[in-house]
Amino acid sequence: MKKYKVAVVGATGVVGEMMRKVLEEKNLPVSEYTFFASNKSAGKKIIFMNKEYEVRELKENSFDEKFDFALFSAGGETSKRFSPIAVKNGCTVIDNSSAFRMDENVPLVVPEVNIEDAKMNNGIIANPNCSTIQAVVALKPLDDKYKIKRVVYSTYQAVSGAGKHGINDLQNGIENFNNENKYELEKFKYDIFNNCLPHIDVFLDNGYTKEEEKMINETRKILHRPDLRITATTVRVPVMNSHSESINIEFEDQFDEKELVETLRNSAGLIVQDDIKNEVYPIATKATGTDEVYVGRIRRDYSLDSGVNIWVVADNLRKGAASNAIQIMEYLMLD
Ligand SMILES: NC(=O)c1ccc[n+]([C@@H]2O[C@H](COP(=O)([O-])OP(=O)(O)OC[C@H]3O[C@@H](n4cnc5c(N)ncnc54)[C@H](OP(=O)(O)O)[C@@H]3O)[C@@H](O)[C@H]2O)c1
Repeated sequence: MKKYKVAVVGATGVVGEMMRKVLEEKNLPVSEYTFFASNKSAGKKIIFMNKEYEVRELKENSFDEKFDFALFSAGGETSKRFSPIAVKNGCTVIDNSSAFRMDENVPLVVPEVNIEDAKMNNGIIANPNCSTIQAVVALKPLDDKYKIKRVVYSTYQAVSGAGKHGINDLQNGIENFNNENKYELEKFKYDIFNNCLPHIDVFLDNGYTKEEEKMINETRKILHRPDLRITATTVRVPVMNSHSESINIEFEDQFDEKELVETLRNSAGLIVQDDIKNEVYPIATKATGTDEVYVGRIRRDYSLDSGVNIWVVADNLRKGAASNAIQIMEYLMLD
């Protein structure tokens, strides 16, 4: 079997660290791993698969070494600058940033939904936004069965989605809650501890945030429904890891509630946790550390002719980032 050379770019970040963990868990046909970050982390030693590696600075000539795959999670600017160089050197890039997601020549892929799109790549495949990934895993089977007419997203997103500085802001808030110590916020404009911030990524001229726009546009692209009516409110909450989402869905067709639940139950990558008598529903702490998307609180929306409310939870660092990207790479390796 062919063995591949794999580069991890942004290996010291929150997503990069999770990439390393997920790669360690898998037995992929890889002959060699190389880990890149910025000059700040260059030289740092990491243990991966019981072996010591030195993190290397990403440079213009880094891809002269002819990698087969590069997993990028080092921000949009790094992706824009270095991905084309990687591709020119014969490397397939799976990019976690938003740099190429809406580029019509770049497939945007969630394996459970549209893995066949991955084959139509020109060297770059985009990994969707974490909040979009978990939503479309739940929406796809419902769209296939009942044709979705409109979606309303309300999200409750963990601080790990904002990287290591986001985690530090919540950690510092917790540690200093009972004392007078002032601490510098590293990521957010306001304290995330004790607050919900209706502000993820930058504000746009139309009053939405870029995170909201990403969820709307990326959902349409992945589901191949360019005209689907969607609105979104995305909120950062003081949760360390795993995003939760309330999704209101209106259908073109009528549905039977039991059949809808069965449809979700039989869908790839989804686990239904919906037993209100025993107070069972998806929660962030239980989703953390797993690759599945959890759905519960499934109930008819009586304000619509045909509509449903669902609650969707997943680990944003695993399914929302590292695991999804590695699933794509695995598919291309084994294809
Ligand atoms: N966190 C999530 O849930 C999530 C989900 C989906 C997608 N993403 C995307 O994934 C990317 C990384 O997010 P993160 O949360 O892991 O951020 P992070 O914790 O801040 O890590 C950023 C990583 O990028 C590296 N980096 C920064 N500038 C670089 C450069 N010029 N050259 C090479 N490496 C560079 C950093 O290296 P140093 O250690 O040297 O600074 C670090 O390894 C972002 O594009 C983000 O939008 C994140």
